[in-house]
Amino acid sequence: MAKRTDILIGLQWGDEGKGKVVDVLSSHYDIVVRYQGGANAGHTVKIDGEETILHLIPAGILHEGVVCVIGNGVAFDPDVFFSEVEYLEQKGIDTNNRIFISDRSHLVLPYHIAIDKAREKFLSKSIGTTARGIGPLYTDKYRRNGIRVIDIYSSDFESKIEKEIDFHNKILKNIYDSKPLDKKEIMSFIFEIKNRLKKYVKDTVQYLQEASSADKYILLEGAQGVMLDIDFGTYPFVTSSSPTTGGALSGSGLPWHTINEVIGITKSYTTRVGGGPFPSRMPKEEENIIRQRGGEYGATTGRPRNCGYLDLVALKYAVQITGTTLLVITKMDILSGMEKIPVVTEYDIQGNRTKSFPSDTDILNKIKIITTDLKGWQEDISKIRNAYELPKEAQEYISFIENYVGVKVAYISVSPERDGFIEI
Ligand code: IMP
Repeated sequence: MAKRTDILIGLQWGDEGKGKVVDVLSSHYDIVVRYQGGANAGHTVKIDGEETILHLIPAGILHEGVVCVIGNGVAFDPDVFFSEVEYLEQKGIDTNNRIFISDRSHLVLPYHIAIDKAREKFLSKSIGTTARGIGPLYTDKYRRNGIRVIDIYSSDFESKIEKEIDFHNKILKNIYDSKPLDKKEIMSFIFEIKNRLKKYVKDTVQYLQEASSADKYILLEGAQGVMLDIDFGTYPFVTSSSPTTGGALSGSGLPWHTINEVIGITKSYTTRVGGGPFPSRMPKEEENIIRQRGGEYGATTGRPRNCGYLDLVALKYAVQITGTTLLVITKMDILSGMEKIPVVTEYDIQGNRTKSFPSDTDILNKIKIITTDLKGWQEDISKIRNAYELPKEAQEYISFIENYVGVKVAYISVSPERDGFIEI
């Protein structure tokens, strides 16, 4: 198998602009694969002023001829999927024979969503989930009572699903003091989608293996980001899947030796939505300015995102874990007009300075950040299309990041439009 598969990963707490990058790069690929997460993602793409937000279907769908795969690692929500197919068709995008869903992916069912919402109310410190059923879905997967797409076509499915609905209703009623769900409604929902889904279902592991052997170019599209990873993120304020390189392999079925580049995406600053530690958060006044300029509101939930300085300690940690080989910096234009741009270069933990990212959430909450002020630039850079036209200070900002994390910046983005993407 030739090394023709690249992995694209968010290096922060999600919302790095992965949708835009996937869209721009998709013309180089035959197949784009989502490998983890589910409809908690919100990948936004802007083409000629028109915005498209996708939660489940890979952003590669916006490029004619690209085949999109929803991999085995994905939390597959059929309701969101069919709404998204309809939304794309209404925009004139042909989805016929261009989307395959792994028969091994697990189905998000109404009880996952109900438990997600009920649990958030129940917790003393809520996670601030997207309420898309993600945590309960992966809990079922690892408890080994999940329902995979392939299962709905098996002969004993009816008795299996009945048992699962009863089990989840007990959790809702007895643990979360919530209303149980109507069994008949869920059963008829599944029977309704069963036939509609059939044409999309495939053994995508075999399909991707064959495609890779036939030297196809494949992009594995991550959702969320390293700092939300179940193992490496700010646990327990994380999502329930692995957005990292390991997750890309286990969520697609492609082996490591097919991987060419690991493309890591970071914003030129940092944002976080939901609960949990956020060491580099800016003072309110600066945060409001960046939030407004950057349009920092959740694509899935509409929640305002908290904004912070670029945290190079966290970024280097994410680069190391993922084995990032190329870096992409998005939203460079948002920083225009700042006199100086602080970036986090060290943490102070109770008087001890460190460049390592701590695993203890309590420590993360108590960290004092140590920043280095870089010179800002005043020019609007959103119309620039060549790296050499960038202000000197913007070029220095890029070099500082490269030197700190030890990886080359391959591209930056300076506008939400497709052409606002500059090769460095
Ligand atoms: P869940 O993935 O819905 O369970 O949410 C767990 C945490 O991950 C919450 O803090 C969410 O705000 C965050 N999260 C999940 N998906 C995204 C995303 O696509 N972008 C940013 N944050 C996300």
